[in-house]
Amino acid sequence: MNYPDVMEKLVSLCKRRGYIFQSSEIYGGTGSVWDYGPLGVELKKNIKDRWWNAMVRSRGDIQGLDAAILMHPRVWEASGHVAGFVDPLVDCKTCKGRFRADKLEDARCLRKPSKRPGEFAECQLTEPRQFNLMFKTFMGAVEESAATVYLRPETAQGIFVNFLNVQQSMRQKVPFGIAQIGKAFRNEITPGNFIFRTREFEQMEMQFFVEPEKAAEWFDYWKRERMAWHLALGLSESRLEFHQHTPEELAHYAKGAFDVQFDFGGTLGFQEIEGIHNRGDFDLRQHTEFSGKKLEYFDQTGNRRYIPWVVETSVGADRVTLAVLVNAYREESVPGEEEGRVVLGIDPALAPVKAAVFPLTKKDAQPDMAHAIVNDLRSQFPVEYDESGSIGKRYRRQDEIGTPFCITVDSESASDNSVTVRSRDTLAQDRVSASDVARYLRDKLAR
Ligand code: GAP
Repeated sequence: MNYPDVMEKLVSLCKRRGYIFQSSEIYGGTGSVWDYGPLGVELKKNIKDRWWNAMVRSRGDIQGLDAAILMHPRVWEASGHVAGFVDPLVDCKTCKGRFRADKLEDARCLRKPSKRPGEFAECQLTEPRQFNLMFKTFMGAVEESAATVYLRPETAQGIFVNFLNVQQSMRQKVPFGIAQIGKAFRNEITPGNFIFRTREFEQMEMQFFVEPEKAAEWFDYWKRERMAWHLALGLSESRLEFHQHTPEELAHYAKGAFDVQFDFGGTLGFQEIEGIHNRGDFDLRQHTEFSGKKLEYFDQTGNRRYIPWVVETSVGADRVTLAVLVNAYREESVPGEEEGRVVLGIDPALAPVKAAVFPLTKKDAQPDMAHAIVNDLRSQFPVEYDESGSIGKRYRRQDEIGTPFCITVDSESASDNSVTVRSRDTLAQDRVSASDVARYLRDKLAR
């Protein structure tokens, strides 16, 4: 199936409705950095909570961690990022454009009419040179090379260097995992597609430490678990697939890898949202060598000492947020109405606002009753109150932000103590006793 390209419409909706704004917009914006607005921060938080519950809280064999972004510079030598986390770059001396040498086929030069770099007779491409994607900064008052530190390009290394701390303090036995959610930074050369590829983003990573002989078995287990997690977010099955890395695509630390890909529609199509890697003993071995501290595990049952292998699951919180938004966006006609509507059909459990409460008019103390309902619901669900504009306009706004239920107080409500609850997806309207609204929502949201 060819899914339409909804990215441009989504960027506009996200700004208009308070999901996502360009960073430092009043100064003209910062390249490929985005700010989450009031609704975006709730959606992303719901996704991160879903991951944390699935990966940490609901299991006894995975521990949580929140490691610092700034780490000892030797970490990045040991991990291979100083030498190997590079993209080959070429510059054009004519148009001053800078391009990934390995992606020239997909690049467009800065001149008009735009062509592939190198296609104009005037193009002067330099020889490729290696460009490291890590952001550098300085620790302390002196800006000298001895004080260089990096903004982490992945959260994983914070887990590897804490392997023994967590294993020993929490008395964990192999197999066990360590999970964390945190910011990562990459000075991407070709960022873009909204929050798909940015220079500052959030990762949700888990390293599962296993016996070397059992790594293949655990790799299959985590592939299945992670695909099931994406499906449970409501992402369409037909938009999800695995992509196995070819030997050329494998990262420097990986013995094998599968990406979970999501179909973003249009020309972007299927793209990675999560990487599942068999990292072997690469990281613990490297840190043992560089730090001089043995990162081993003693198996009392088998009476042997070994460096565990690692199966890693690494998913971008921003990419999943984008996948949820793209998956949810739909335009449709409404029976009996001329104007169609835009709906974000987000899974109700992930939706930033669960219900909106409206007085139909400002008469008959309807606003008072609506306020009383909102105040009662607020302690249990994120809810909104809205009395401005026509009821149709209020429904449209809630549909666009993905609110699953709208509750209307009307002229009958005072006498029959009931309200109308409209479903975002079916448009069905139920008459519900005002004192029963919380239970009604709880039932519907639990499904
Ligand atoms: N520790 C392994 C690792 O970092 P990766 O495949 O480079 O692996 C994992 O990244 C995930 O992080 C990706 O699947 C993606 O969801 C997210 N990610 C990576 N680079 C990103 C970027 N520039 N912008 C947004 N998300 C990114």
